[in-house]
Amino acid sequence: MLVALLLLLALSNAVKTYGQEGEGQCDLKPTLDPRPHSVSIKEFGAVGDGKTLNTIAFQNAIFYLKSFADKGGAQLYVPPGKWLTGSFNLTSHLTLFLEKGAVIIGSQDPSHWEVVEPLPSYGRGTEVPGGRYQSLINGYMLHNVVITGNNGTIDGMGPVWWERFTSNSLNHSRPHLVEFIASDYVVVSNLTFLNAPAYSIHPVYCSYVHIQNVSISAPPESPYTVGIVPDSSDGVCIEDCTIVMGYDAIGLKSGWDEYGIAYGRPTANVHIRHANLKATSGACLAFGSDMSGGISNILVDHVHLYNSHSGIEFRTTRGRGGYMKEIVISDVEMENIYVAFAATGHCGSHPDDRFDPNALPYLNQITLQDVSGTNITIAGNLTGIQEAPFTNICLSNITLSINSASPISWECSNVSGFSESVLPEPCPDLKNSSNSSSSCFSLLGQIGKTAVL
Ligand SMILES: *[C@@H]1O[C@H](CO)[C@@H](O)[C@H](O)[C@H]1NC(C)=O
Ligand SMILES: *[C@@H]1O[C@H](CO)[C@@H](O)[C@H](O)[C@H]1NC(C)=O
Ligand SMILES: *[C@@H]1O[C@H](CO)[C@@H](O)[C@H](O)[C@H]1NC(C)=O
Ligand SMILES: *[C@@H]1O[C@H](CO)[C@@H](O)[C@H](O)[C@H]1NC(C)=O
Ligand SMILES: *[C@@H]1O[C@H](CO)[C@@H](O)[C@H](O)[C@H]1NC(C)=O
Ligand SMILES: *[C@@H]1O[C@H](CO)[C@@H](O)[C@H](O)[C@H]1NC(C)=O
Ligand SMILES: *[C@@H]1O[C@H](CO)[C@@H](O)[C@H](O)[C@H]1NC(C)=O
Ligand SMILES: *[C@@H]1O[C@H](CO)[C@@H](O)[C@H](O)[C@H]1NC(C)=O
Ligand SMILES: *[C@@H]1O[C@H](CO)[C@@H](O)[C@H](O)[C@H]1NC(C)=O
Ligand SMILES: *[C@@H]1O[C@H](CO)[C@@H](O)[C@H](O)[C@H]1NC(C)=O
Ligand SMILES: *[C@@H]1O[C@H](CO)[C@@H](O)[C@H](O)[C@H]1NC(C)=O
Repeated sequence: MLVALLLLLALSNAVKTYGQEGEGQCDLKPTLDPRPHSVSIKEFGAVGDGKTLNTIAFQNAIFYLKSFADKGGAQLYVPPGKWLTGSFNLTSHLTLFLEKGAVIIGSQDPSHWEVVEPLPSYGRGTEVPGGRYQSLINGYMLHNVVITGNNGTIDGMGPVWWERFTSNSLNHSRPHLVEFIASDYVVVSNLTFLNAPAYSIHPVYCSYVHIQNVSISAPPESPYTVGIVPDSSDGVCIEDCTIVMGYDAIGLKSGWDEYGIAYGRPTANVHIRHANLKATSGACLAFGSDMSGGISNILVDHVHLYNSHSGIEFRTTRGRGGYMKEIVISDVEMENIYVAFAATGHCGSHPDDRFDPNALPYLNQITLQDVSGTNITIAGNLTGIQEAPFTNICLSNITLSINSASPISWECSNVSGFSESVLPEPCPDLKNSSNSSSSCFSLLGQIGKTAVL
């Protein structure tokens, strides 16, 4: 018992170092050198009246700016106005700058959105089999790209897409607002994102992505809208963000069943801090359910989660394979949340019937600490998989005030772990006082080393 206590003290100190903001991915500040060349979208014939379609103007401007890639890059300036467009592609060494009062508006006509191949780690469109609509703003195999501004706005005109989704009239899976594929050194900052058709910002197969000071929203009833989705990407920082969505606020993913297993690219070294998150029907912080390439080395601190169905949720199912491990979440404030922590091994559908039911997902070494919550209905609902129980769930210094609507404060099955100073008292499965505290401790050591890479 004494050993456990000493280890716990060491554990708290290790995380305090993170609390002092010295060692996560977010401490690697990107350098934003000014671009030597800048052109306005108006020079390419764009009209900011909210009616003229400007897709060609964006495509031509970016084609022109390609020639500055080896001359320090260039900026495409978007002045105040309402700039209607279909989907377009960015280029390397480009800064897209949206002035205050500039709104890029996505066309509501699906024919203005290019249809592209499905992502190889998903094998098909996630909503409709086959191809998918390309995102409004797309980056493919790029380096050093910045989307920023003085609080300009990117508006996806979501309602028409949500209606098509709900009425099953989509011909292809819904598009996202901004997607980067296989790109690195990407910055998205100082902007507002509204009404994404599906996801708002989707980095997939990317490295070194810094998302700072963005405000993202979609109404509570918008179906399966998500704020930021780091997907098979590493070296990601998300900080100083406010995200209010219909489904999940931040969702970490890495591919779907046999396609994700074959592609084999994890989401790793992600740091999320100083975020205000609201997720009406899903989770403020969601892990999975598409996690077949693995999710590890995730650090979350100083987050405020409110008015949501779940605070923090881990989702997976048989057939996924992959893992979710080495995840440390600390300094969390929650209010008005139905279930504070959830983990389920029975969530999500399959891309087709070729998935392998014996591909079991592993969930191990998840630490949650320094959490306070008010008006919580269920403290924790952790349901593992019988053949692959969730292990080393480490809970420490957690105080949740449970409301009178609560049917039960903790529900656990096929899960094991360690807890210390947790109120309400967790299920016996999480009270193992043998060596699981040392697993929690070794986890912190490992993340401490990798998070600074
Ligand atoms: C945009 O990039 C995608 C790859 O993500 C490509 O399939 C598409 O053809 C490009 N569109 C244009 C107009 O270049
Ligand atoms: C956040 O962005 C707004 C404009 O969008 C700007 O006024 C503010 O200074 C930025 N804050 C930080 C910390 O960068
Ligand atoms: C940014 O713009 C949005 C509207 O597009 C507005 O609601 C918000 O208050 C603005 N934020 C700042 C910091 O100016
Ligand atoms: C789907 O495709 C059909 C046939 O091409 C077309 O009539 C319909 O308008 C399309 N629907 C949408 C929402 O794009
Ligand atoms: C955001 O805007 C603020 C205020 O203009 C500026 O100081 C900061 O460098 C910007 N941050 C990024 C990452 O673009
Ligand atoms: C408590 O949270 C629930 C949502 O879980 C919400 O409906 C209710 O209004 C909240 N109560 C108070 C007093 O804020
Ligand atoms: C806990 O989650 C499981 C599904 O993972 C669900 O069947 C069960 O009803 C939940 N328990 C409570 C009390 O909500
Ligand atoms: C416990 O967590 C609270 C935040 O919920 C924090 O203020 C406090 O310092 C933590 N206590 C210890 C001993 O770390
Ligand atoms: C594990 O889950 C199965 C259902 O998947 C259940 O029948 C069994 O009782 C659970 N085992 C424990 C120890 O909770
Ligand atoms: C607990 O850890 C100690 C030191 O690492 C080790 O010697 C001992 O065998 C472990 N006990 C169990 C039950 O795993
Ligand atoms: C307690 O933890 C130890 C070491 O992690 C593990 O071997 C043992 O199975 C756990 N006991 C229970 C009841 O989960």
